[in-house]
Amino acid sequence: MLLFADTADTKILAELLETGLIDGVTTNPTIIAKSGRNMFDVIKEICDMCEGPISAEVAATDAKTMILEGEKLAKIATNVVIKVPLTLEGLKATKEFSSQGLMTNVTLCFSVSQALLAAKAGATFVSPFVGRLDDVGADGMELIHNIRTLYDNYDFDTEILAASLRHPGHVAEAALAGADCATLPPQTFKDMFKHQLTDKGLETFLADWAKTGQSIL
Ligand code: E4P
Repeated sequence: MLLFADTADTKILAELLETGLIDGVTTNPTIIAKSGRNMFDVIKEICDMCEGPISAEVAATDAKTMILEGEKLAKIATNVVIKVPLTLEGLKATKEFSSQGLMTNVTLCFSVSQALLAAKAGATFVSPFVGRLDDVGADGMELIHNIRTLYDNYDFDTEILAASLRHPGHVAEAALAGADCATLPPQTFKDMFKHQLTDKGLETFLADWAKTGQSIL
């Protein structure tokens, strides 16, 4: 499973990339606004830091303008993935990007039927938003399971990018549901390393090791 960082904070990203466990980056307009930086500058910097797929989202709502925006974003670097909302216009633009051989991430996916259309439009990635479905009392993870079944039934190549994940349990469940990738807020990625029994076990091992008076090096 590929793990993407859901951030445009390049300082935090640099720290996450040091682990060697981050395969790409996703952004959205909210994340860019939070960074307080020019979108082109920050996406370029991220593309230089990480050679994996870097999602940059269009801001237009009509296909024609989305196509112009996406083509401009794609020129930033070869690893840019054009992020497009899952609307009728967005899928028209996705089809065009796909015919040009440009990578796309169809975002704001909340249903199986939307995921079917994204795959038919030739999306490289589809982003089902787990946490936001949970927020309104629906079962976000069920959507991941169902899209997996759908894509397997028809051998669609579109990769399922589990998004809006809020905690390590979400990441684990998405992996078990067969998501191809997951995008995580930095804190969620850091929380994945933690387990109270790991801390407790290590504390005991270190204390017992100290008693031996030995040194490995
Ligand atoms: C990433 O592609 C999505 O935009 C992001 O995961 C949304 O997360 P949120 O629902 O926590 O804002």
